[in-house]
Amino acid sequence: MKIKFFTVALVLAALHGTMAGDPDILSDFIVPSGTKTVDGNFFTFTGMRVLVDAPEATTFKVLKASMAEFPALNGQSVSYAVLDFPPGSVNPPHTHPRASELLFVLGGSLQVGFVDTTNRLFTQTLQTGDLFVFPKGLVHFQYNGDGKNQALAVSAFGSANAGTVSVPNSVFNTSIDDGVLAMSFKTDVVTVRKIKDGLSGKI
Ligand SMILES: *[C@@H]1O[C@H](CO)[C@@H](O)[C@H](O)[C@H]1NC(C)=O
Repeated sequence: MKIKFFTVALVLAALHGTMAGDPDILSDFIVPSGTKTVDGNFFTFTGMRVLVDAPEATTFKVLKASMAEFPALNGQSVSYAVLDFPPGSVNPPHTHPRASELLFVLGGSLQVGFVDTTNRLFTQTLQTGDLFVFPKGLVHFQYNGDGKNQALAVSAFGSANAGTVSVPNSVFNTSIDDGVLAMSFKTDVVTVRKIKDGLSGKI
């Protein structure tokens, strides 16, 4: 399934300014030091043009327009990500420490869920056209369970720099001691190493 870029563009326009969260700034906008010319180009991000007529992704892909990619967002409390899910792909459990996320499914369907601070899981199967909100800081995931069709979504964040903490990566792809992890997950070191090797690309 090919999702037309103009659909993406429409949604980008519609979602703009949906949430705010970063501290207020004392100027209209913030120009990074070293920027010589500030004109319309400074407020324009063209990094999503690669989506136009792009071939379907073969692995899950995120294309971000946050402060790092688009410096004019600094102080504006908004950012975007375009999420491309090939059939059967997952965006593993993660959190955004600085923003809630408003996800809009542009094509295909997605199984999504988040876990609140009482450890309650909220899940939903989203169809094209549906929106879902992931509350700030909570662990959440998205999965394209459709074995044949791609899914495409746009996420708006209430921060110019929402940040992403991947649960598998932060727990099993750093140098946290194997013994600490084995105790924490009530398993043994061999099992912990197996998970670590999978994430680090060793197996
Ligand atoms: C695990 O960490 C390594 C080194 O930082 C990185 O190259 C790799 O992509 C990470 N694995 C995953 C699954 O993200």
